[in-house]
Amino acid sequence: MNQKYFEANKKTWDSRVEPHTKSEMYKMEAFMAGATSLTEIEKDALGDVSGKSLLHLQCHFGQDTISWARKGASATGIDFSGKAIAKAKELNKKLGMDARFIESNIYDLPDVLDEKFDIVFTSYGTTVWLPDLEKWAAIVSRYLKKGGLFYIAEFHPTLYMFNFENHQVEYSYFNKGEPFKEEVEGSYATSDSKAKGTEYFWNHSISEKVNALLNEGLTLLELNEYDFSPYNCFPNLVEREPGRYVWGADKFGVKMPMVLSLKMRKE
Ligand SMILES: C[S@@+](CC[C@H](N)C(=O)[O-])C[C@H]1O[C@@H](n2cnc3c(N)ncnc32)[C@H](O)[C@@H]1O
Repeated sequence: MNQKYFEANKKTWDSRVEPHTKSEMYKMEAFMAGATSLTEIEKDALGDVSGKSLLHLQCHFGQDTISWARKGASATGIDFSGKAIAKAKELNKKLGMDARFIESNIYDLPDVLDEKFDIVFTSYGTTVWLPDLEKWAAIVSRYLKKGGLFYIAEFHPTLYMFNFENHQVEYSYFNKGEPFKEEVEGSYATSDSKAKGTEYFWNHSISEKVNALLNEGLTLLELNEYDFSPYNCFPNLVEREPGRYVWGADKFGVKMPMVLSLKMRKE
């Protein structure tokens, strides 16, 4: 499925791992000293995870996975970037933690992982890399125990419609199957990286996400929209208050939906 797109994206993500570990955004020194990488949004939504098994989809180099493990979860992170998974394993070992990491395309996960979890978690910049949300929702459901929770905090699909440099609407809200393509240089996490790459991505509307999960037998417990991003990861964001970033329009009194979250239960 869409092999050409996956290969290009994997290469770009591989190239970001090293610069990200040195970036301001990922705050590696504080993380290694014990700080959590999780934001108030997902921490409040999932509460006490101690003793729970948690599958983290598209874990990048594992900071959030390890942060859930620090909170007592038995955490497994998966990502298709071999470089990201190697770095995650290295950090896990250095910290003496017991998180588990698996290199796999999310769509191929059933080939390498056969278990069920209390919680399936994914966050911030994950669904845009996925061409098919019906298959994604089937994967989410496949890995949840009966009564288990799925939680996603993701950048809002409305936000992804804009070109952040010139403030113009450039991308469709609705997924038309064909990806958007961009040649990129550098990364959202650091201006130090000059790595070049190609990205293919898909915007997925709220209804597309929710319906795909409802069709897999999950019920909706919470849907929230936030008017700030916990990360300063798009061009021209302004820090409205500590740790809450908004797009420039906010200074004119316009509030943009920046983050969407869903909490769902497998019935
Ligand atoms: C924005 S990052 C993850 C966000 C995470 N919140 C973080 O900042 O650490 C997106 C991740 O998705 C992974 N990814 C993209 N497409 C994937 C796929 N088809 N299967 C598995 N992982 C994928 C990339 O390798 C990357 O590590």
